Amino acid sequence: MKEEQQAKQHAGYYAADLVQDGMTVGLGTGSTVFFAMERLSERISEGLSIRGIPTSAQASLRARDYGIPLTTLDDTPVIDIAIDGADQVDPALQLIKGRGAAHVRERVVAEAARKLVIVVDGGKLTDVLSAPVPVEVIPFAVSIARARIENLGGSCVLREGVKKDGPVVTDNGNWILDCGFGAIQKPAELEARINNLAGVLGCGLFSEFRSKTIVVVGEPGGVRLLSG
Ligand code: 5RP
Repeated sequence: MKEEQQAKQHAGYYAADLVQDGMTVGLGTGSTVFFAMERLSERISEGLSIRGIPTSAQASLRARDYGIPLTTLDDTPVIDIAIDGADQVDPALQLIKGRGAAHVRERVVAEAARKLVIVVDGGKLTDVLSAPVPVEVIPFAVSIARARIENLGGSCVLREGVKKDGPVVTDNGNWILDCGFGAIQKPAELEARINNLAGVLGCGLFSEFRSKTIVVVGEPGGVRLLSG
């Protein structure tokens, strides 16, 4: 296994081992969380009893493949622990998420969770957030939302499908604008301004969950923990 994959596996497995019997577990989206699901699956076959709440169609399909029983937020509105990935993490544990276009549901699950465990490899750590910020918008509002985000200093690209012509359509039926801002000096302020725009469902900046967040940084030889 390549070093980066090994680092992701260490982070995912560590997070899965934090899960205790009887817990409801938020299941994030992406390759690092898949390792957590792999380990949860092993633990389930050894007798662990949990229920998962998936954050995307992808997470739901993978959880079913791994034999992880699922529930919904309607039936289980409090989540004991949510395990999710991130695209960038700064020293204050502020995040950019949404490469997988799942950040709106991921935010809902993170909000409902008592504890948020973010699993990343070391390449995701940065001093200042600077990756493009994914913004989910309703198609009806895409032009106006784009103009408003450009007024905030963003440079937006409509995310296009791979093996599908035209825009990526999210699990909620919306589109994604990937918005570059360069170095983001005040992530919480920018997050609030974007999320307040009409027609915007949510952006990939996550700065409000720091106090309940643990970041598990996978390394080739183990993990390192960052907490709020
Ligand atoms: C999906 C996400 C993912 O959690 C994030 O992109 C990390 O993915 P990976 O673990 O594959 O690097 O935010 O919307």
